[in-house]
Amino acid sequence: MNSSFKFATHDFIHVDNITKYRGRAVSPWPQNAPKSAILEHLSLTLRRHERVGLVGVSGCGKSTLLKAILALEHIDNGTIYCDGKIVTPGSARSLRWYRRRVQYLPQEPASTLPPLMRIKDILSEPLRRLSHSGNALPDLAQALEQVELSPGFLDKPAGSLSGGQAQRVALARALIIQPVFLLADEPVSGLDLPLREQIKSLLLRVAEENRMGLLLVSHDISMLAGLCERTLVMEAGKIIEDRPTQQLLHLPHHPHTRQLLKAVPGILSTRL
Ligand SMILES: Nc1ncnc2c1ncn2[C@@H]1O[C@H](COP(=O)(O)OP(=O)(O)OP(=O)(O)O)[C@@H](O)[C@H]1O
Ligand SMILES: [Mg+2]
Repeated sequence: MNSSFKFATHDFIHVDNITKYRGRAVSPWPQNAPKSAILEHLSLTLRRHERVGLVGVSGCGKSTLLKAILALEHIDNGTIYCDGKIVTPGSARSLRWYRRRVQYLPQEPASTLPPLMRIKDILSEPLRRLSHSGNALPDLAQALEQVELSPGFLDKPAGSLSGGQAQRVALARALIIQPVFLLADEPVSGLDLPLREQIKSLLLRVAEENRMGLLLVSHDISMLAGLCERTLVMEAGKIIEDRPTQQLLHLPHHPHTRQLLKAVPGILSTRL
């Protein structure tokens, strides 16, 4: 499809009318097996420096959207642009420019740290792969400091960390090349309440200090309320509401959004 989309200078990522179907057509009678979409005619613009929340019930397509934006998943239709350039899945080399700008904090990030690898090797890997300088070591202690871990952790293997420490290391790894934008998929799920609060304030501080944009998936709308100025609501592969977070919390337009908010006791009154 030809796109008439024009980039404004403050736009960073533009998702232009993307569709992704569930599985590939394997039926011998494809005309009898209508393909169902995981993402359906979805368009979205993320501006530089903005922090955007993404909510929706389990299975609505949030992680798939993040992976599509990251070029980790193939899409069937539509185009994704970053800084006006088309982003498509490809080799690590062809995506190097993009990985320098856009980093990812996956669901359960702690499980993506190789347990035997030392923290200093985990943190220097993206620097080696993606940074221009290749001059890694002086930045490592600082990267840990940014996530409030002492330099003493550099020599420890990832397997010796607690859940919260591992989460911080995964965050430090995503931040070390100072991306323009971070896509974070439920970074606090599975953590207890005090740790959630810590990671939330950490994300806010780092985003403000680095002027980094954030697309944050969370089931926890109260987390988004403190972190994101804009919130998207997804239902069945589509974005059904896209508004400033406070407006959305106070006056949800869509019945589905009202349902989601009802599931968070106290959120409406606490944000008034
Ligand atoms: N590669 C795939 N092939 C087929 N179906 C898939 C694929 N990836 C995801 N799905 C399906 O797409 C739908 C959306 O999944 P997705 O993981 O994006 O949801 P989600 O909103 O992130 O859910 P959760 O909140 O539970 O993490 C689900 O029905 C899932 O089973
Ligand atoms: Mg998910």
